[in-house]
Amino acid sequence: MSSMRCVRFLPLKWLCGIYAICVPFIVSENPCKITQDKADCSHMKLSEIPSDLPRDIKALDLSHNQLKKIPTANLSIYNQLEELDVGYNTLHLFEPELCDSLTTLKRLNLQHNEFTKISEKYFLSCKNLNDLRLNYNGINAINGNPFENLENLSVLDMSHNKLTSTFLGDRPQMPNLKELLLFSNKIIELKEEAATFLQNTSLQKLDLSSNPIKVINQNYFRGLRSLHTLIMVDMQLGSSLVEQLCTALEDKGIQVLLLINVQMSGINNTTFKGLAATNLTSLDISKNSISHIDNDSFVYLPNLQNLTLDYNQVLLLSPYSFHGLSELKTLSLKRFFSTSKVYKIEDLSFQWLKNLEYLNVDGNRNLDLTEKTFTGLNSLKNLSMVECSINLDTITNKTFSSLSMSPLLEINLTKAGIAKLEYGSFLALGRLQRLDLGLNRIDQDLDGNEFIGLHQIQLIYLSYNNRLTLTRNSFSFVPSLQRLNLRKIKLTFREPNLSPFHGLQNLTLLDLSNNNIANLEENIFEGLSSLRILNLQHNNLARLWKNANPGGPVLFLKGLHNLEIMNLLSNGFDEIPAAAFQGLSKLRILDLGENNVYLLPKSLFDDQPSFYQLNLHKNLITSVEKELYQNVFSNIKILDMGGNPFDCTCESIAWFANWVNTTNASIPGLDTQYICNTPSNYHGVSLKHFDNSPCKDAAPFKKCFIFTFTFTVAFILVVFMIEFQGWRIQFYWNVSVNRILGFREIDPRGENFRYDAYIVHAKEDENWVENNLIILEDDEACGLKFFFEDRDMESGKPQLEAIVNSIRSSRKIIFVITHYFLNDPWCKRFKIHHAVQQAIEQSRDSIILIFLEDIPDYKLNHSIHLRKGMFTTRCILTWPAQNDRVNAFHQNLKIALGSSNLVT
Ligand SMILES: *[C@@H]1O[C@H](CO)[C@@H](O)[C@H](O)[C@H]1NC(C)=O
Ligand SMILES: *[C@@H]1O[C@H](CO)[C@@H](O)[C@H](O)[C@H]1NC(C)=O
Ligand SMILES: *[C@@H]1O[C@H](CO)[C@@H](O)[C@H](O)[C@H]1NC(C)=O
Ligand SMILES: *[C@@H]1O[C@H](CO)[C@@H](O)[C@H](O)[C@H]1NC(C)=O
Ligand SMILES: *[C@@H]1O[C@H](CO)[C@@H](O)[C@H](O)[C@H]1NC(C)=O
Ligand SMILES: *[C@@H]1O[C@H](CO)[C@@H](O)[C@H](O)[C@H]1NC(C)=O
Ligand SMILES: *[C@@H]1O[C@H](CO)[C@@H](O)[C@H](O)[C@H]1NC(C)=O
Ligand SMILES: *[C@@H]1O[C@H](CO)[C@@H](O)[C@H](O)[C@H]1NC(C)=O
Repeated sequence: MSSMRCVRFLPLKWLCGIYAICVPFIVSENPCKITQDKADCSHMKLSEIPSDLPRDIKALDLSHNQLKKIPTANLSIYNQLEELDVGYNTLHLFEPELCDSLTTLKRLNLQHNEFTKISEKYFLSCKNLNDLRLNYNGINAINGNPFENLENLSVLDMSHNKLTSTFLGDRPQMPNLKELLLFSNKIIELKEEAATFLQNTSLQKLDLSSNPIKVINQNYFRGLRSLHTLIMVDMQLGSSLVEQLCTALEDKGIQVLLLINVQMSGINNTTFKGLAATNLTSLDISKNSISHIDNDSFVYLPNLQNLTLDYNQVLLLSPYSFHGLSELKTLSLKRFFSTSKVYKIEDLSFQWLKNLEYLNVDGNRNLDLTEKTFTGLNSLKNLSMVECSINLDTITNKTFSSLSMSPLLEINLTKAGIAKLEYGSFLALGRLQRLDLGLNRIDQDLDGNEFIGLHQIQLIYLSYNNRLTLTRNSFSFVPSLQRLNLRKIKLTFREPNLSPFHGLQNLTLLDLSNNNIANLEENIFEGLSSLRILNLQHNNLARLWKNANPGGPVLFLKGLHNLEIMNLLSNGFDEIPAAAFQGLSKLRILDLGENNVYLLPKSLFDDQPSFYQLNLHKNLITSVEKELYQNVFSNIKILDMGGNPFDCTCESIAWFANWVNTTNASIPGLDTQYICNTPSNYHGVSLKHFDNSPCKDAAPFKKCFIFTFTFTVAFILVVFMIEFQGWRIQFYWNVSVNRILGFREIDPRGENFRYDAYIVHAKEDENWVENNLIILEDDEACGLKFFFEDRDMESGKPQLEAIVNSIRSSRKIIFVITHYFLNDPWCKRFKIHHAVQQAIEQSRDSIILIFLEDIPDYKLNHSIHLRKGMFTTRCILTWPAQNDRVNAFHQNLKIALGSSNLVT
């Protein structure tokens, strides 16, 4: 039994051991994200509070988990917590001790839990709590005073609960409460006693939106002395309840009142009467289907600065509608008028708004402007008329004449349905700086009179219109222009050689994009000395830069010395002249994308010391060479060269691939758009994966190659020389050495020689020698004497010595060369050696070769180590086959024998 027990216990001990070792490690891999003093444990399906977070964290996010409770015991170890988020769990109880432990807690988020009741004990010790979120619980009523001890509470969010009353206590409390959010509850009545708890607060913002309030007690707001903002959005108040509300707000400090979508149908002279004694500055009554605004409706709001009346259905605006709004600064009337019925703006409707600076009437169709519509807006600076269709599509000198007394700086006529600008359209707007005429239907020739009177204009936006033809005077009256947008207007030039832009010396931006322009004169931008931004994308300028263009490439960018940003995207360029960007020394951003550029001239960017951004995407560039791009890239921050058919070879791309790898510049799409096209083994491969290790040593390798090659060739040459001409070298070497060492010629004329020649021959040629050489001795006139072994050898002396002596005493040595001679060992081994030795020592060409047969040089060399080339031609004689030449042979032999021995 005991042994059995041992066996059974052993594994358990083991388990314990493993547990002891492993658990600390498992736990130390805490899944929470810890950054500085915050721990984010959200979305982790936790049902317990992790116990191994850093003790000194200040914020803990436990939201989106499965916590049923927050045990103080577990959480109190983090006693420096200031922020605790336990939203989106299933809590329905809160331990009062928690705040005892976490004395520094300031923000507590309990949203989206299952609290239905808030016990009076919960927050007893949460004195330091500043922000408490109890929204999205099922709280249907508050009993007692659960928030009474929250002395420092500033924000209390009770929205999205089931409260039927604003009652949160029966005694004044929370003296520091500033913001109370009660929207989306089931509050039906604003009872006086339900606001008692707020009486000593400093409440500034109260949001009661989305409650089915039907009754408002006139004393409800009585104690809310500091109430600044009241928000009532998406409710069913109706006009009379709004009137009651305003009465209830009488002489309160309310400044901002939002009554958006509260079912008001009209405003009359009693609606806002209750606000008379307030200092209301901002009122928003948008989305109310208000159809009528009676006279004097706003006379009680003399302090109002900001009135928003967007999205209503007003039928008539009369001269007294806005009576009394003398302090108004901003008036927003977007889609203010009826969309279904004909509405009317009577003359002088805005006459009281002496201080209005910003008027927005966007989205009001068929706005009928008369010469007195805006009369009285003597402070108006900004008028927005976006999406208004104005007076039969044509702007005349009357359209804005009512604004002649306004210091208008900006007018926005975007999408106003304008088709034509007549003479003096803006004559009344002498101080206008920004004129937006974009997205209209303007279709005309611009003669310049349209803009007459715009003495201070800085911006004219004419992009996206139907058709505009520019003349030389189009902008003659607006020399102060700084920005001119002419995009997508089917732009044409009436007098192509007279630039419509002449004189715009302050112009900094010119947008001519999307016009399909195919022709520009060289002087088109002449004088635009301030131009910094030029947009020419989506035109058709390719021909202008072709070499084949009649008259050569048109350098239309000439003189734009201050140009910094230029867009030439999608123009079909396939050629770019080397001088295209000459003089554009400030160019920092260039877009040449979506063209057909294949090769860029090497000097193209010579005047651009460094780009900030360069875009060459979707061209036909195959190689990115160091010579052209090194400078261009030196300071670049953004590069886009994606979508080119890169040739991923060492010569084309290695430098670029390496640069891309090491640069700090941003290269958008580097992973997906920089794809090799060629060679085939790289086709479809990302440039990033180009392996440039085989290219790395290209330069040193080249040198090495040249060196090795030269060396090898030289070596081979030397070997060949030695192999085939070595004898010559050796021979002349020996001759020279001997000459230098001073072997003296014994006698040039031969007095010391007993013989004229020593004849060396093979035994088999004896007869020939006797018959053809010895007979020469008979010729008296020559007096020749040969040493002929068979005849002259002194008997008695040892043969070798005799031969040596005989050779010494002969002036010349004659070799009679036949194949017998070559095979005669005696001849070869000794005589020839000795003869040659002597020839060398005496520096004499003392050897005469007589060939009786045709012997190839290689055989001669092979057998006796002599070559014909060692001898001067006169010392080489060939025995003639024809008899009639024998005399000539003899003559030659005599010459050879009589010649000087000196090598000449
Ligand atoms: C103003 O409108 C309210 C609500 O429609 C109405 O009760 C009131 O009598 C009107 N006052 C006047 C003077 O028309
Ligand atoms: C309105 O403002 C004036 C001056 O700023 C101030 O004297 C007055 O008390 C304010 N009225 C209310 C109701 O707050
Ligand atoms: C309000 O308007 C009515 C007519 O609609 C007028 O009789 C009344 O005097 C006006 N009251 C005030 C205070 O202007
Ligand atoms: C005017 O009121 C609107 C809507 O309430 C608000 O968005 C805007 O900021 C206010 N403008 C000023 C100048 O107070
Ligand atoms: C407006 O244009 C008309 C003709 O189109 C002209 O008679 C009238 O004098 C112009 N008004 C102003 C203020 O220039
Ligand atoms: C004019 O309004 C349009 C539409 O709201 C806006 O996009 C554009 O920027 C405005 N123009 C100016 C010059 O502010
Ligand atoms: C151009 O700008 C300069 C400096 O801002 C200014 O002095 C000059 O008057 C402007 N030129 C025109 C024609 O408005
Ligand atoms: C670029 O870097 C990657 C990874 O660091 C490397 O694999 C690749 O060979 C490098 N390419 C070049 C051209 O240096």
